[in-house]
Formats: sequence, C-alpha cells, structure tokens
Amino acid sequence: MKPMSAHRELRAGSGRPTADDDPGTSGLARDCSETSWKRLPMDSVDVRYADRTNLQAGDLDDSRPALVDPFGREISYLRVSVTDRCDFRCVYCMAEHMSFLPKADLLTLEELDRLCSAFIARGVRKLRLTGGEPLVRRGIMTLFGTLSRHLASGRLDELTLTTNGSQLGKYAAELAAHGVRRINVSLDTLDPDKFRAITRWGALDNVLAGIDAAQAAGLKIKINTVALKGVNEDEFAELIGWAHGRRMDLTLIEVMPLGEIGEGRLDQYLPLSLVRARLSERYSLEDLDYRTGGPARYVRVAETGGRLGFITPLTHNFCESCNRVRVTCTGTLYMCLGQEDAANLRKPLRASEANDLLHAAIEEGISRKPKGHDFIIDRRHKRPALARHMSVTGG
Ligand SMILES: C[S@@+](CC[C@H](N)C(=O)[O-])C[C@H]1O[C@@H](n2cnc3c(N)ncnc32)[C@H](O)[C@@H]1O
Ligand code: SF4
Repeated sequence: MKPMSAHRELRAGSGRPTADDDPGTSGLARDCSETSWKRLPMDSVDVRYADRTNLQAGDLDDSRPALVDPFGREISYLRVSVTDRCDFRCVYCMAEHMSFLPKADLLTLEELDRLCSAFIARGVRKLRLTGGEPLVRRGIMTLFGTLSRHLASGRLDELTLTTNGSQLGKYAAELAAHGVRRINVSLDTLDPDKFRAITRWGALDNVLAGIDAAQAAGLKIKINTVALKGVNEDEFAELIGWAHGRRMDLTLIEVMPLGEIGEGRLDQYLPLSLVRARLSERYSLEDLDYRTGGPARYVRVAETGGRLGFITPLTHNFCESCNRVRVTCTGTLYMCLGQEDAANLRKPLRASEANDLLHAAIEEGISRKPKGHDFIIDRRHKRPALARHMSVTGG
C-alpha cells in the first residue's frame, strides 16, 4: 500500500478488487468498474483510512432522494450477505449437507461495492456485511478496503460485520485498519463439546482466540447467542458474566423459523420471556432506552454493569421502527427478513454501466416494503415459515 502523502489525487487502482480475486467475477462487471472509476481531487474527501483511493463515479451523486418506505420509515441500514457459504454448520441455521449457490451466481466484489455504494448514495448510513460467513469469501478484505472510502468521506457512519469468529485471528487487524470499529460475534456456548455439537464443524478455542485478536486490534465486540431449548439454556448466566467481564455486550436471540434444517424448530424454540424471567432471579435487570437501530431491546445487568439485549421476533413485534433491508450475495433485495417478497437487483446491475436502472429497481423494491413479518412456530406450522435459510439473508 502506498503512503497517502504520495497521492495527490484519489484514483482508481490500488486496493481495487480484480477479477482474479474473485471466482464469481464476470467480464461485464470488470468492464463496468473499469470504465466507471474516475479521478477526483484529493481534497474532496476527509482521508483517514488505508484504502480511500477508490472513489467511483456515482459516489458523489446526491441528486437522488433518500429511500423512504410506504410507512414513512427511512432506510438507513443495509445488511449484505456476501456469501451463502460457511465453515460451520450450526444446527439451527443449516443442514449438515447443504447445497450452495454456484459461484457464477454470486455478485462479484466489484458488483457488491457498486450495489452498497448505490444504497449509501440514497441515505444508508450503516452497512453490515454478513453471510454465510463473510470472512470466508475470497478477497473480502478488498471489499472492506474499497467500502472504507465511504467512511472516509463521512457518507457512512458505520461499516461492520457479523461473524462466527473463526477467521478473526487472521483478519482482525486488517478490519480495524479499514475503519471497522464494532463487530458482532456469534457464540452460543463456552463448553467446547457443546460448541462442536451446535456448530458441527467449529472449534471453540479458535473462536476465543479470534475474539482475543479482535479486542487486541481495538474492535468493540457484541456477542450474539441463539437461545436453544435444552442445549444452552443453563448457560446464559455464565455467558453474561464472561461477556460483561470482557467489556462485551451480549444479545440473546430467539430461533427464527427460516429454512429446512432437518430437525424440528419446536425442539429448539425457547421463548426469551421465559429466559428473562429466570435471569431476573439471579440478576437485577434494568430496562434501558438504548437502541442500536435494530430489533434488540436492552437491559442493564446491575451486578455486572454490562448490557444484555433480547431479540424476540416471535414473542414481540419489532417491525414498527424497522429501518433496514437486506441484499443476498446474488443481488436479491429482501425488504423484510420475515417475508418472501424480493426484488432482483442483479439484473439492473448487470444490464448497464450507469446506475439508473439499479436505482429504479431499488426504489421499486422499497415501495413494497411490508409493514411487518409473519413468523409463527407452533404445532400446526411444522414447516419453516420461510424456505430460505438465515445464511442466505444473513440474519
Ligand atoms: C446467519 S449468521 C451469519 C454470520 C455469521 N456466520 C455468524 O454466525 O455470525 C448471523 C446470525 O444469525 C443467527 N442465526 C442463524 N440461523 C438462525 C435462526 N434460524 N434463528 C435465529 N438466529 C439464527 C446466527 O446465530 C448468527 O448470530
Ligand atoms: S449461524 Fe453463521 S456460523 Fe453458523 S452455520 Fe449459519 S452462517 Fe455459519
């Protein structure tokens, strides 16, 4: 990487993803990116991060209005699943033998950048990369690098990710260098055998080492724990003590009925209302107004001083303040995690080098954002409420 003092201009080139980085790169996408990169004066942005040399045509186009859905909710948060693949096979998320998308169907890194940048031009201030496991996508650091230009320009408040932690030892320092400040790490148990049983392929030691590396790199961590009946329900008090002792918030998540996973959801589902009642016997939980823009509701645990979140899609409706949409690694825009309705963004993305068709498709999709979701788990609904897995939309 060249020292910034050597640059008098921001220009295309250094740090930009190349076709070779990414098995899914198509010729069209490569041509698009090469014709749309353009020189911009150095003083047009506040330069703070390593790979801020990548301003593209369209980045500074403010002429289009912010995205607002039919219920007046401004879309300021985008989650992008950069791959449906994963190095774990968590029992609530995937079947052990999953079939994954052909690599050719995936958006290239350049296309993902263009897509994210289009949303940022329309008012998205927070961008979360997820998956599958985002850190197993080949070349993913290049995407963090190019996207960091939006942090440098002040157009994006936060660039973050949700990860299973397995690759953090390798990437934590680089993530921090690209302007990532806070990350979510999923961890359901501190018992190595149980960890292996839940994730099927994961190793607890490796994830704990990844958490150490992330903290050493200065990243703030929030732990996400899926509450699983009869599996980790006896461990929440210990997990809270551990996370808060390391200055990490912890959020408990109810299992959501997404995708066929080969065993009954009823067996896994544990209502968090019950968990909270049980935790109240051990801890003093004080309700907080704190919000992260997401569905979690937080309490302060008086004994530890730390924050504990509850994401309760099934016992509570969190839709009224929903400011987010999701895009899959194939460029499908889901306006709601809990509904099937979607818009194809890959087609307009690939149909033209200019972004007009893409913006039109985004607007059309947002105009169909529903008021809320319809998750149900009960004895009459044994099938998943939605056919797609969480690894497709990324949680
Ligand atoms: C799909 S994962 C993707 C990111 C990364 N692989 C990870 O595990 O953090 C995102 C989050 O969704 C959660 N998750 C997956 N399937 C779920 C389900 N059916 N219900 C509730 N949460 C789920 C995971 O525990 C994780 O916290
Ligand atoms: S929850 Fe995350 S780590 Fe576990 S299988 Fe799903 S995508 Fe992979």
